[in-house]
Amino acid sequence: MEYPTLSAAFTQHFGAAPALVLRAPGRINLIGEHTDYNDGLVLPAAIDKEIRFAMRLNGTDRVRLAALDFDATYEVAVADIAPLPDGHWANYQLGVVAGLLQRGAQVPGFDCAFGGNIPSGSGMSSSAALECGVAWGLNNLLDLRLDTMTLAQLSQTAEHEYAKVMCGLMDQFASLFGRAGHVVELDCRSLEYKYFPFDTSASRLVLCNSGVKHALADSEYNKRREECAEGVAILQKHNPAITSLRDATLADIDAAQAEMGEVVTKRCRYVVEENQRVQDVTARLAEGKSLAEVGELLYASHAGLRDLYQVSCKELDVLERLAHNAPGCYGARMMGGGFGGCTLNLVATDQVKEFLTYMKQGYHDQLDLKLDTYVTTLADGVGELLNEE
Ligand code: GLA
Repeated sequence: MEYPTLSAAFTQHFGAAPALVLRAPGRINLIGEHTDYNDGLVLPAAIDKEIRFAMRLNGTDRVRLAALDFDATYEVAVADIAPLPDGHWANYQLGVVAGLLQRGAQVPGFDCAFGGNIPSGSGMSSSAALECGVAWGLNNLLDLRLDTMTLAQLSQTAEHEYAKVMCGLMDQFASLFGRAGHVVELDCRSLEYKYFPFDTSASRLVLCNSGVKHALADSEYNKRREECAEGVAILQKHNPAITSLRDATLADIDAAQAEMGEVVTKRCRYVVEENQRVQDVTARLAEGKSLAEVGELLYASHAGLRDLYQVSCKELDVLERLAHNAPGCYGARMMGGGFGGCTLNLVATDQVKEFLTYMKQGYHDQLDLKLDTYVTTLADGVGELLNEE
């Protein structure tokens, strides 16, 4: 951030000091991709890339937002809040206010200045951080006493209704529930969750940012969701007990294959296999061993995302291929919704430097592209920021 402190920038914009300063992190996902909206399992973590917010109630009926990183402001009366044209940065936060209003909360006017260091379009969920930060901040400022899971769900609804992406709960959950040094498994059906320590003395989770985001990402995302729903409707005719892909087995899918057709069959098969892989990874993490086996599961996840779910792209495939021969790398896969963003790599801690050199050189040689990399630190979820340094 280019200003001395966020509080100072807030005061300059709005003429008074903030009442609350907080941070909302981005996330990684070790494994469990495109499983969240299928009632499945995910294994994300919050990271030390974050968006910071300074907020206060302003005694009017107006919401005033200042996006410091792109020098933009937006102002609207609470009563007039409605979705803005697609792609507008204010949609995420307005969507959260709309969600609170829908739940019957009284939301008066407030000021909010924010900025951060989550590269947008990188698949680290800057949008979830934007939503969750405002949800947490308003819950606090207005003493609404909504529980943290409700804040995650409300933020997810903002993404559906204001950003028009029919996402699952993973990103918002990770931003709010992250714990330093841990990944967290969420069962998206029961909403039960469990933390697993991640031992950074043995390995690190390293992101390689392809630097691309394909324009079709959002529409293809929504299409995958529909294809899965189509699969469930057919599977259900065969077995009424199947209400989501969480209930289906590979045998169920084989039996319904002819009716589902090739594409839907592939989508369903991927989701069922990916849920199993999440369980295989958590079993190994619980034993605290076998990074090589965890790595193989990451490679298998990538293969499924590329060949069955078909959400990868050329650049991500190049990065995943390179990882197979990179020093110290146990496994790699594309991360997040797909069609760009980052690969996640599981790398031996003592070889991270060699790994990075190899990947940067390889990406340059094969695609003539510069590779940004990031060695993640697993961080706490959304919370008040007492020290702005
Ligand atoms: C995006 C969505 C998440 C999840 C992932 C894919 O990040 O926001 O809900 O579906 O894609 O796993």
